[in-house]
Amino acid sequence: MKAFQASLLVYISHTWAAPAPQASSCGNSGSLRPCPGLVGYDPSNHIPTSPSTEVPTDQFELAPGQSEDADLGLFIDLSKVKNPQPIRGGTTGPTDSGPRTEAYDRLNSDVYAPPSTDSGDIPNAKWPFALSHNRHGLAGAGWARNQNTDQLPIATSMAGVDMRLSANAYRELHWHKSAEWALMLSGSARVGAVNENGENFLDDVTEGDVWFFPSGVPHSIQALENGCEFLLVFSDGKFSEENTFLLTELIDRTPKSVVAKNFRTSLDTFKAAPDKQLWIFPGTQAPTDIEKQNQTGPAGIIPKEFTYSFHWSEQQPYRVPGGSIKILDPETFPIASEFSVALVTVEPGAMREMHWHTTSDEWTYFIKGQARLTVYQAPSSSRTFDFSAGDVGYVPVPNAHYLENTGNETLMFLEVLRAPRYADISVNQWLGITPKQVVQDHLKVGDAFLNTLPKVKPYIVPGNTNLLTTNFTGNTL
Ligand SMILES: *[C@@H]1O[C@H](CO)[C@@H](O)[C@H](O)[C@H]1NC(C)=O
Ligand SMILES: *[C@@H]1O[C@H](CO)[C@@H](O)[C@H](O)[C@H]1NC(C)=O
Ligand SMILES: *[C@@H]1O[C@H](CO)[C@@H](O)[C@H](O)[C@H]1NC(C)=O
Repeated sequence: MKAFQASLLVYISHTWAAPAPQASSCGNSGSLRPCPGLVGYDPSNHIPTSPSTEVPTDQFELAPGQSEDADLGLFIDLSKVKNPQPIRGGTTGPTDSGPRTEAYDRLNSDVYAPPSTDSGDIPNAKWPFALSHNRHGLAGAGWARNQNTDQLPIATSMAGVDMRLSANAYRELHWHKSAEWALMLSGSARVGAVNENGENFLDDVTEGDVWFFPSGVPHSIQALENGCEFLLVFSDGKFSEENTFLLTELIDRTPKSVVAKNFRTSLDTFKAAPDKQLWIFPGTQAPTDIEKQNQTGPAGIIPKEFTYSFHWSEQQPYRVPGGSIKILDPETFPIASEFSVALVTVEPGAMREMHWHTTSDEWTYFIKGQARLTVYQAPSSSRTFDFSAGDVGYVPVPNAHYLENTGNETLMFLEVLRAPRYADISVNQWLGITPKQVVQDHLKVGDAFLNTLPKVKPYIVPGNTNLLTTNFTGNTL
């Protein structure tokens, strides 16, 4: 380090010791480096008055709710207003004359013009897959993009991958150190794996179905004839889709004589094997009848209680006013020992209630619609983030949060916990089953309100589609 600093100093002093530019190079024709004499205060050099940097009020529009009390923190929809400005709680305010990326400001109104209840410092909780490098497979066979701690440093206990396979394409036979939990987003696929006991697994999954592969278990995924897209969640925030163990690389990275010896064959056997990894590549169409691919050994198939797929699409969700929720955790899908998830729908104006998780961070994936979420972190920090379909959210345990549908269509998202059981603390229920006197002494809310607190978790609270309404008395559960 010392040597490096020393050589850097020598380098800098050499650079600075270079001869000053000739005065003639400071003329009107422009110069690579400035004329001498521009540094610091100079009584003879008067900065001309610059034009106003305020954006005049006739050059922008305020969205409904933008000038309401900033403590109300109404959702302000900047998606359509002219030249949106970071104003909250007034009609004038600090305007933004740029530089800016207006499209980001429109998508993130709660970041651009935060509710005044936001406070302190909260690590970033949002990553759009749209900003992840999208690695393409061979010959149009598909693509995949990562979200891990390189993109979202707070997300230490889980990472995600969004993967697309064209018709009949494969995700190559592979394995990895992390466990893999997956949700089919569209289309159908055939998934297969082999475990340590020599038991095998083969199944077809479709939109809404789930699979889980434990650490180290080799598996492959082949899209059926209409292609598919799926979401993968890994048990390590540092997981990278670039760093999986691949069958092709295993063969390529082992001496050819050893490969031949291992399979008791000649060198010729592998001469047509690919000399580069396949990763995502076109395949031959899988037979519709899955039994035609049945290659079960004497150990049999992986028994039902430890099997790797779950036909979750066939579960009807638990419906509540304002939406629905369904939970899949090891109580019903035992092999996925550390993954507990909830698939939630929230109608326009409604909200996944204020809650937190007791033992696990939450990794969230937005499937449909748009939402916002405020993270509250002890003792006195909070920050609000806006999400739309294709985004990842992350809330560290045990920070409180809610998810409000801020759009006009049904919001659908997946909450993923690294926990043996899906569980949350509902703020409604917490206060509803705490002695009324205790709640009153804290919050001074009055008996009438205390009598309305639910004793059962609502999960979702209904709301008005007009997000500017602030009277929720009529929203009975
Ligand atoms: C494959 O064969 C085994 C053994 O006969 C059987 O238990 C299993 O149901 C078959 N099908 C699949 C998809 O594994
Ligand atoms: C929802 O619909 C209303 C009425 O059509 C419209 O004014 C508003 O901009 C829409 N909001 C969003 C987020 O699309
Ligand atoms: C709020 O709405 C309820 C039900 O619609 C109504 O009875 C009540 O008067 C309203 N309160 C205010 C302050 O507007």
